[in-house]
Amino acid sequence: MKRFAVFVSGNGSNLQALIDETKAGGIKAELALVFSNRRKAYGLKRAEEAGIKTLVLEPRHYATPQSFDREIAMYLKKDKIDFIVLAGYMKILTPWFVKQYPKKIINVHPSLLPAFKGAKAIKDQFTYGVKVAGVTIHIVNDKMDAGPIIMQESFKVSEKETLESLEERIHAVEHKLFPKCVSLFVDGKLKIGARKVQIADRK
Ligand code: GRF
Repeated sequence: MKRFAVFVSGNGSNLQALIDETKAGGIKAELALVFSNRRKAYGLKRAEEAGIKTLVLEPRHYATPQSFDREIAMYLKKDKIDFIVLAGYMKILTPWFVKQYPKKIINVHPSLLPAFKGAKAIKDQFTYGVKVAGVTIHIVNDKMDAGPIIMQESFKVSEKETLESLEERIHAVEHKLFPKCVSLFVDGKLKIGARKVQIADRK
């Protein structure tokens, strides 16, 4: 069975969805490690409660982003991690790191990319006044929020929408779409090109 690590920086509600789906047998891989760059990330608690090994490394202890990423990669190699899932990991991976796991890092982003890249995508969409919002699951490449798209799901934004309700709706879509994509990845159903991802026939 393939082994994967989930990277979190905060609440970890997406991590929870992945834990639940893995436990239910929908993702046929072992969630072997949860890594965080923040000691206080609530996601670490979720991992501990689920009996998953955790690792925390803090960027402030490292001279450069690359030395930080090198240390993470060293731990991942020791743990025989095959692929990585970014679930609210709020730090940009160095190109060096991405090269260690080519086409083997999956990310969730709370907008319909390429619109609203970056760390405040939900707020940015709300402020902009979009009529359609959504979620993107994509493969990570060396440019931020720009890798080949696995799946996207959109929904209409109502006139009564508040930032809070939009956040809730986006998270609900994420929690459904993200585990589905990870499962397809694990089952070898994704043909990942430089720009496009083809999904093999689903039963
Ligand atoms: C999600 O909205 C994800 O799309 C973004 O960060 C948020 C993380 O939420 N990258 P959580 O920590 O999974 O609850």
